[in-house]
Amino acid sequence: MCGIMGYSGPRPPLPLLVSGLERLEYRGYDSSGVAFFNDRGSIDVLRAAGKVSILKERVGLLEGHPGAAIGHIRWATHGAPTVENAHPHRSGPIALVHNGIIENEQALRERLKSEGVHFQSETDTEVLAHLIRREYERTGEFADSVSKALVQVEGSYALAILCQDAPADLIAVRQGPPLILGMGEGESFVASDIPAFLHFTRQVYSFQSGEIGLIRHGEVRIGTLSTPLSSWKSPVARTISWDPFFAEKGSYRHFMEKEIFESSRALMDTLADRIAPGNLLPELLPLAPFPPPSLTFVACGTSWHAALLGRSFMESMGIPSTVEIASEFRYRPLLIPKGSWVIGISQSGETADTLGALELARKEGFRTLGISNVPGSSLERESDLCLLTHAGPEVGVASTKAFHSQVALLMLFSLALSGRNHETHELAALTRSPHRLETFLEAISPERYDQVVERLRHSRLVMFAGRGVDYPLALEGALKFKEITYHPADGYPGGELKHGPIALVEPGVTIVAPMVEIGLRQKEISNLREIRARGGYVLAIGHSIEESQRGIWYDDKIDLPDGPVWSGVFQAASVLQYVSYRVAVALGNDVDQPRNLAKSVTVE
Ligand code: M6R
Repeated sequence: MCGIMGYSGPRPPLPLLVSGLERLEYRGYDSSGVAFFNDRGSIDVLRAAGKVSILKERVGLLEGHPGAAIGHIRWATHGAPTVENAHPHRSGPIALVHNGIIENEQALRERLKSEGVHFQSETDTEVLAHLIRREYERTGEFADSVSKALVQVEGSYALAILCQDAPADLIAVRQGPPLILGMGEGESFVASDIPAFLHFTRQVYSFQSGEIGLIRHGEVRIGTLSTPLSSWKSPVARTISWDPFFAEKGSYRHFMEKEIFESSRALMDTLADRIAPGNLLPELLPLAPFPPPSLTFVACGTSWHAALLGRSFMESMGIPSTVEIASEFRYRPLLIPKGSWVIGISQSGETADTLGALELARKEGFRTLGISNVPGSSLERESDLCLLTHAGPEVGVASTKAFHSQVALLMLFSLALSGRNHETHELAALTRSPHRLETFLEAISPERYDQVVERLRHSRLVMFAGRGVDYPLALEGALKFKEITYHPADGYPGGELKHGPIALVEPGVTIVAPMVEIGLRQKEISNLREIRARGGYVLAIGHSIEESQRGIWYDDKIDLPDGPVWSGVFQAASVLQYVSYRVAVALGNDVDQPRNLAKSVTVE
């Protein structure tokens, strides 16, 4: 869950490494560091506890000598977030940065200690630096020593490695966590994610797990840990369409705010080329059995909420579907019907639990599908077919536009599977939804939300409740709220409040109620009346909520435009995201990098 970056080329490396680390900061922000060649030809390391801004101050006007250089941002697993534990780690001529976990660290550490090695940090990474150094001192061959050291290692790693004696060379290795190569003119980049180098090149190659690369300026050779350097080959890059602007905040204060307002574009790009009547989601055509007898969705966090919405759409089309939290599913007996498709949903495409759940299904012979936002992600490679959402890079740790694009894709998927691929009112609604959302977002008046923000900010407790499609929206609203405001919040099915959660209700408690599901509105209103009767304050979000009902079943409302459920869910989701965003900003929280979280969770 850390972020790594490496460069080899003619530019002074430090400015580009620091700006790349800033773009990777969503992956972790406990500490950061860089290793680079100085003008005397030796490696210098600079590290700092805390955010990249602190490292940036340390680096100051230093540019580093052109050649190879590496950088890291850390999400602590082994050892506290101190300078000593910050990467890069060094041993003699070797300096390296690591994302992942070394499982046999203890055994390796004991062995190295018994051979006289002194450790400077508590990290598992440091053992790698010592192991590679030992092999290098034996062989004098940089690439060979990395391969020889890594065959002794168990665990997961993406690594970028420098050697004092080879100032232009960068070695990159992937065993598990993502590692992307960016290929420019006479220069190359490696990084945990594309936005780190998107300003320099859109030619990318995703390392496969088990691959190692030797990078010298624009020359790259890739092989595996068990093949000799002489057999390594040049990789074939693919061009990605992401716009570098996506990786910038532009005029927005935070990435999260920008990404909320990019949601309509995310919908448009995700649906484009897939929504022609008679030819929906053409990627599905080669798959058998078509349609499958049932679907099982596996996902985590926000992607799990998108899956819950997906289940509603599937069921409304008569397609049996279940939704599982990936970390639970992977350790339960697999009792789903034969012929089912198992569908992993993951923005990053790197979430360890989702990948693990899909691997289990694949081993048991099920057809696996991925829905991911990141081209070249592990999910794309490891599923039988991967449908890409085209939300563009999502930098804010709290997922926003990616959720919208997942939901849109699932709507389309339900139409394609049910054979309703000609004009239906759902298809018409979905086709219009990007434009409707764009109009809605453009009309958001920040002042309108001031009072709502004050109310939520000072509420003793905020609960989110809804029925039908409003239930996953409530869960998502609560997740967004707690992860960036740090205030307790939970989401409930509206009908479930009376079975326990209502005990929490008293004056000072606010219930946020997305109310897109018109068919269940009267039921939800009854539930909300019960809340108000006990002193709770109700904020309703929906269309056609009559002013005359204020003070009867709700206290305040945010109006959505009149329209079908298939448009309303997007608007309501945007409101929930925006409200949490505004409360977090009012509280002075770090919205884009909330405490203790990382954007892609590549550990169990
Ligand atoms: O990359 P993924 O979609 O697999 O990530 C899953 C969750 O970690 C993610 O949605 C998380 O819950 C976000 N912080 C939610 O905003």
